This record gives sequence, structure tokens and C-alpha cells, in this order.
Amino acid sequence: MPVNFDKMPDRLNTNCVKWDGLPNMFKVKAEDEVLPFWVADMDFDCPQPITDALRERVNHGIFGYTRVSDHFSQSVVSWMNKRHGSWIDPKSVRFSPGVLHGLTNAILAFSKKGDGVIIMTPVYYPFNSIIKDTEREVIENPLIEINGHYEIDYEDLKKKTSQSKAKLLILCNPHNPVGRVYTQAELTKIGEICVLNKITVLSDEIHSDLIYAPYKHLTYMNLPGVYKNKAVVFISPSKTFNLAGLQTSAVILPDETMRQAYDKAASLTRTTGINVFGEVALCAAYDQCESYVDELMAYLTINLAYVRETLRSRFPQLTLFEPEGTYLLWIDFRKSGIDEKELLHFMSHTARIAIDDGSWFGSQGSGFIRLNSACPLSQLKEAFDRLESAFNQLKNK
Ligand SMILES: Cc1ncc(COP(=O)(O)O)c(C=O)c1O
Repeated sequence: MPVNFDKMPDRLNTNCVKWDGLPNMFKVKAEDEVLPFWVADMDFDCPQPITDALRERVNHGIFGYTRVSDHFSQSVVSWMNKRHGSWIDPKSVRFSPGVLHGLTNAILAFSKKGDGVIIMTPVYYPFNSIIKDTEREVIENPLIEINGHYEIDYEDLKKKTSQSKAKLLILCNPHNPVGRVYTQAELTKIGEICVLNKITVLSDEIHSDLIYAPYKHLTYMNLPGVYKNKAVVFISPSKTFNLAGLQTSAVILPDETMRQAYDKAASLTRTTGINVFGEVALCAAYDQCESYVDELMAYLTINLAYVRETLRSRFPQLTLFEPEGTYLLWIDFRKSGIDEKELLHFMSHTARIAIDDGSWFGSQGSGFIRLNSACPLSQLKEAFDRLESAFNQLKNK
């Protein structure tokens, strides 16, 4: 049965971070009924083949320690092939609870304390925390903002990668929060610079299934061997099928020596044991739910068109940075007249919309918000009505 994306699921009191974690995070009262457009998960049901597979597994009634099955790797291999045109060896696939666990293991495996890890800011902020928590040093290679679009600063990347302490680059492709989907030319340039300077690329591709036409995601695994053998790719069904609570993702390591180092780190952090439901869900998603992704993208494209037109006609002071992928919309408030430091408070307390403040992603994000558009269109309409009233309140003050 196709998913009804217009249906608003009732997620309150399920302990979900997005809804139930909101009052605490944004210091608002539950009765204020602030609407959540923060955390990157979706207010949509997951496809029925996944819930059917989970029910069948529940019926078995025994949930003891479970090995990662060959089916897990086969499902990942087949997904990478049918959705991303990539041929990967099943031997290169590893289970990881979340992508962040996998990235942490890779940082431990491929660098040592004090080494530098490059990130392209503004970027998904936990990258910063995992680098610091593993006692490595964050090296920023800020993206360049050009006319409502972001580009990679290659000259700066060359400088940063040539520092002797630099060992790793965490690439976010598609890029959260700015929505870039990097082209073959861009990835090849990154690959050339990194190989030249012996930098291992950790390519976080968690949003790679969520691409707007006419853009195409190119996985780092599709680059020639010389680049990809110095790289690790991280994918997950969690964003695509709304399964983040099942904590199941996959790490792809083409190089055998790197696999051994990665396995040692995963064993050290005790992150090798699979969640019995997570595996069932991943296999059902990747084996049976391809059409869901196309339906989802068609719906997200409608939501995106709504936001684009609404900003154009009702909020000329705001600018949407056109996303090429992800359901995360990066919106520029720098001409809105609202002080950058007041923006989060204005959104959560005056407009009653919970969003991610751009500054969380790095200083370059100040004055922006990240708005999660993966919800029924009616929710988005309510958000922009609230925003309009909030701007009117400001005008009438
Ligand atoms: C780019 C990126 N990487 C990793 C994650 C977290 O993934 P996980 O929950 O699998 O650790 C997110 C979640 O929003 C993300 O956007």
C-alpha cells in the first residue's frame, strides 16, 4: 500500500526527540504547541513492507544475540547498485549502529590523538563533537557562498590537507545543511587533493537517496580505485525510510588493510553487535522499498515548490538556498531585520516553529535557519502562516 504522505502521524508521547524532546531543547512549554521542523527525521510512516517484516520477526518471539547476516551485506550491495550504479564487494560492508558510530570508529582507526580532521563548514555539527571527543583537532575548510550557492574552496583545501597534522577529511555528500550534491568533477578534485596529501576521505552519504531531479548522487565508491581505496563510505536507510530509532547503518571499506583497522576500532568501541530489528528493517527497505523513495521524492518536491513560492510571494526578505538533495532547507534570514543572535528565540517563541539555528553548523551559518521539510504539506503551510504572523507582530511593535 502506498504511504499517505498527507497524513499527520501522532508522534507525541512516543519519546521521539523531534516532538517530545522539543520543549526541553527550545525552553518552551508543551502547551505552547510549538511545531517541530528541527531534527532530521520525517513525519511520515515508513513503508509497509518494513513494518510487515518487523511484525514477522516479532512473531518469532526470541530476540537473543544476533550475528550480522550475509543478507545484510547483500541488501547493501544491491541497493548501492540499483540506486547509485555502484558495484561493491560484499566483503567491504560492515554494520554500524549509526553513521556517527561508524565515523567515530573510522576516526579512531585512521588517525591518532592530536591529528587534524578537516570538515567543510557550515556542516552537520556532531562532526565537530566527534572529532573533539576523540581528541583530534578540527580543521575547517569553509565552503564559499556564491549567489545563493556553495562551492568548495580548493585552494584552501590544498593548504589544509598539506598541513602535516591533517589526516582525514569528513565529506558530507549530500551536504547537510546546505543541500549540495557534489558533482563528479568536484569529487574528483577532492580525491586528487586528498590522495596527493595522503588524506583518508570519510564520505558521509546518509542523505544520498534523497536527491531532487535533475541532480544525481555520485557515491565516492564510483570514483576510480586510486581515490576510493583511500576512502570509507557511510550509508543508512535511517533518513530515507525514517528508521533512525532502529540504529542500523552500513560502512563500506574497499581496502582490506583499512577493513582490518576499522574492525579493530569497532571491536574496541563494542559497536559490532547488530540490533535484530534494525537488520530486518534495513533488508526489507533495501530489498523491497525502492518505489517508496520515488514517491517520497515526488512529495518532497511538492513541499519544496511550496516553500520556494511562499518565500518569493510572501517573504521577499528571506532567501532559499536551492537544495539539490536532502529534505533540509537552508534559508537565509540575514536581510530579515532580525538580529542573528535573536533568530532562534524569534522562531521558537514568537513564530512557535522549532528549527535548527544556522550558527550550530559553524560560524558561517549565523543568520540562517535549517528547516526540515519532511512532513505533510499542511504542516509546512501552518509554519509559514505562523512565521508571517510573527513578522507582523514585529512590525506592529
Ligand atoms: C550528515 C549526517 N550524518 C550523520 C547523521 C546521524 O546519523 P546516525 O543517526 O545514523 O548516527 C545525520 C543525522 O541527521 C546527518 O545528517
